[in-house]
Amino acid sequence: MVRPDYRLNYHLMAEYGWMNDPNGFVQYKGQYHLFYQHYPYKPAWGPMHWGHAITHDLIKWEYMPVALAPGGEFDRDGCFSGSAIEKDGKLVLMYTGHFMTGPDKDRDYKQAQGIAVSEDGLTFAKWDGNPVIGYDGIPDGISQKDFRDPKVFMLGGRYYAVLGSNDGQGNGLVLLYRSDDLLQWTYVNVLAASDGSFGDNWECPDLFRLGVKDVFMLSPQRMPSQGEAYRNLHSTMYVVGKFDPAEGRFHFERYAPVDHGFDFYAPQSTIDDKGRRIVIGWMDMWETEMPTQNDHHWAGAMSLPREAVLDRERVLFRPVQEIEAYRYNPFELQDLTLEGERDIESGGDSYELQIVFEAGNAEEFGVKLRVGGEEETVLSYRPDDGLFRFNRERAGIGPGGERRVQVGLAEGRLSLRIFVDKSSVEAFIGDGEYVVTGRIYPRPQSLGIKVFAKGLCKLESFRKWDIR
Ligand code: FRU
Repeated sequence: MVRPDYRLNYHLMAEYGWMNDPNGFVQYKGQYHLFYQHYPYKPAWGPMHWGHAITHDLIKWEYMPVALAPGGEFDRDGCFSGSAIEKDGKLVLMYTGHFMTGPDKDRDYKQAQGIAVSEDGLTFAKWDGNPVIGYDGIPDGISQKDFRDPKVFMLGGRYYAVLGSNDGQGNGLVLLYRSDDLLQWTYVNVLAASDGSFGDNWECPDLFRLGVKDVFMLSPQRMPSQGEAYRNLHSTMYVVGKFDPAEGRFHFERYAPVDHGFDFYAPQSTIDDKGRRIVIGWMDMWETEMPTQNDHHWAGAMSLPREAVLDRERVLFRPVQEIEAYRYNPFELQDLTLEGERDIESGGDSYELQIVFEAGNAEEFGVKLRVGGEEETVLSYRPDDGLFRFNRERAGIGPGGERRVQVGLAEGRLSLRIFVDKSSVEAFIGDGEYVVTGRIYPRPQSLGIKVFAKGLCKLESFRKWDIR
């Protein structure tokens, strides 16, 4: 049986077994659909299926039957990541068929793209003519095996798809294809490529318009770190710039990580009927320990859906507003002088915090979450180096470590909006300029919250709501 210990309250998880990337994120006939990389038989990666869940408000999800299972010719060994689009009232999925050519799972494979169609958003029929982009659709000079994760979109009356790959020489890149009917695809160009400093393979590309700019989002593998950024084995990145569909190129202006924490990968976006661009990511990371894999019978969760908002050349990520309807039990403190550590008379394992610190002349200040016995998860800031820190060294079982991000104070203040949910922490800094996400596995009785300062600072406000 699935053990309840670390099951999240207001995030989507695998009902049973394994979950990784979000797939096919779309609003269809008034509901949001999210599919995901799924192995329904064990809490470990295996031949990939597409799990499926729907929601009205992006917070409470309902599980649907598995949408895609491996088994056709080109997708015999897995239905890998992809996306969804509505066409003539039907819901069309475009995904990668994975095919093993030998015994080595990291080397012996090839990949091609297929589609599946649904009349009702519930049952999906793979198209007879799959694959729609076969092995011979890969241009020369490009990896003939890493060719995956189509994100399909419409622009100027035509369909486009971006696909992740590499040049076979250690540089990730993204390929652009074009179609008039989702069935016949023409290769356009290499949309963008690494110059040696952005990882050796690019996964899960996404491309969308945001305000007056275009945004290209991707998951580069083994990208070298840049200062405090891109320190996970695999990273996520967004690039603001200009997409030229005729040339098939994306012109870079500015790039940054989508998330600065430990556990966030393969984000995918959709646009909804309110005109919002919503991004959701896998709230875990490859090749790190996931304690629920042992005997809990589930592993893998999604981040909170985040609204992407353009601020000049920067993208802000904010939790979708719908979460506010799930608040109860408000708690508030104001205008406290903080010196040393202070217990907050309210705790929990499933809540939202909004905190404003006025730095004063403190050397360091912050908040400790899920405190109990030896356990604590520490979010802190030091004005001298300007680094915000997420430290999970003593968080509980599971991986430790610290992630840092350079953050400027706004008029001497640090504003945080933090979501804790059983085994997750997501900290939104400022207006959503930075998000820091990580999984933690404390004991169920570690429920305390503390605020602290080395030196003197002011806790201008501390607000808390439990989230149901
Ligand atoms: C990214 C990824 C994708 C692939 C999928 C397989 O996390 O490696 O590139 O389609 O996971 O599950």
